[in-house]
Amino acid sequence: MDLEADKLIDDIKKIKKELGGELIILTHHYQRPEIVELGDEVGDSYLLCKKAFQSEAKYIVFCGVRFMAESAEILRRDSQRVFHPDPFSGCPMADMSESGDVIRAFNELDDVWGKDAFVPVVYMNSSAEVKSIAGRRGGIICTSSNADKIISHVFSMGKKVIFIPDEYLGFNTYKRLGRGLENIAFWDFSLPLGGNKADELRKKDFVLWKGYCHVHTFFTREHVLEARRKFKGCRIVVHPECKPEVVDNADASGSTEYIVRYVRESPVNSTIIIGTELNLVRRLANIYKDRNIFELARSMCPNMFKITLSKLKVTLENIPNKNRVELPDDIKEYSREALSRMLNIVG
Ligand code: 13P
Ligand code: SF4
Repeated sequence: MDLEADKLIDDIKKIKKELGGELIILTHHYQRPEIVELGDEVGDSYLLCKKAFQSEAKYIVFCGVRFMAESAEILRRDSQRVFHPDPFSGCPMADMSESGDVIRAFNELDDVWGKDAFVPVVYMNSSAEVKSIAGRRGGIICTSSNADKIISHVFSMGKKVIFIPDEYLGFNTYKRLGRGLENIAFWDFSLPLGGNKADELRKKDFVLWKGYCHVHTFFTREHVLEARRKFKGCRIVVHPECKPEVVDNADASGSTEYIVRYVRESPVNSTIIIGTELNLVRRLANIYKDRNIFELARSMCPNMFKITLSKLKVTLENIPNKNRVELPDDIKEYSREALSRMLNIVG
């Protein structure tokens, strides 16, 4: 925690009081505990995206990573402004899909699959630019809480899918939908045709971009087996960004909000082992002291951790002049279309 944390907390509370209903602070579940304490809403990326959309506040301060703050900026009303306490708090997985590579992939798939044969499904964990490139082509955003619904929706339209950028969320979701795994192609963006042969690619209906979250791929099957040996009768719940061998050996998997609900609804005295970001696991252990809650292994998102009390205070005391999130109009227009499609499908 920041040195002089108590003073910083008092100062932030004072500014919050002064700004009253003009301000809303949104905090992702992976934020430091002291930041979550100061937030008006805590949630996963989908819930916070909706809160930003619904909020009447003039100033939205987003304590999460960059793509989340950008999503709030995309959805905000004209009268609102969005702020991010650390512009360098990015997401390495989002950085694994760059616009140039994405445009090239779409062009190559146009040649092999045909121009209208596929719809890009882009995970929220992506830049606004990538969202807009997908949006121009009828693409749809998804989060880990609705990837299954969005992918099913596209298949029900009789279209194929390229899923960007999380290979594991895509794979776990496709498998959960009960579709044949032989219909998947993996896309290595550094290679022509993603490293596939055109003839083979033509037979597939699901292309998976080879990006990943280092926080969740840190968990292994051995961690799961070790937890079962150590905590007899425990339940293991993991995020779907984990590798399939972890998801398959766990008792349950789902979005961050799903994990929070899973713990809330678990019986008193039960033992729950959680495979997701450490700050969330520790906070749940603190809230539900009548359950035994442990991390599957220590894995932290260093980017979420970049939002500190001092950066939050500096942002708040300089509103509206510092740390504002701004995006070019055309990027906003098309990324909003892609985000709105998600909201229209899943509500
Ligand atoms: P959620 O969509 O579950 O909030 O996940 C966001 C994220 O960054 C997970 O690593
Ligand atoms: Fe990105 Fe992973 Fe951090 Fe989520 S936990 S913000 S996916 S690096």
